[in-house]
Amino acid sequence: DLHSSDAQTVEREPDGLILIGKEDDIKKSQRITAKVNGREVVVFYHEGKFHALDSRCYHEGGPLCLGEIEDINGQACIICPWHKYRITLETGEGLYEGINPLEPSPTPQWQSKGVKQRIHKVTIGNGNVYVSPPDLSVSFDSDYF
Ligand code: FES
Repeated sequence: DLHSSDAQTVEREPDGLILIGKEDDIKKSQRITAKVNGREVVVFYHEGKFHALDSRCYHEGGPLCLGEIEDINGQACIICPWHKYRITLETGEGLYEGINPLEPSPTPQWQSKGVKQRIHKVTIGNGNVYVSPPDLSVSFDSDYF
């Protein structure tokens, strides 16, 4: 499942995974950036879960590693510090606030633009946090930064 970022527990040193850092250190710092196959990736630890995303925003390459995290309708989102785009940590979906002009008194609702930011699978093992190499047979808007 490409959209799964659920951390898994492994027994042995995992093959082919990229070491990001010590689990305890990232739990303390709550975020860390790393190079994964030449791309800059940010790993967040938020409300008990690890999430990894491309660190450059799909819009114009803003540094998501410097953004604040906000809850939108029960989904944790990183807010890009450049133009305030919201991206879900779990799926990499871009959210926008839209209104339905046909409603009598339209109120803005958060909606998804689809998956825009590449997310990366996180694996926990031996007290370390690893990220899987990206599947480049699928492309995302954030690949262009
Ligand atoms: Fe992230 Fe524009 S670069 S919102």
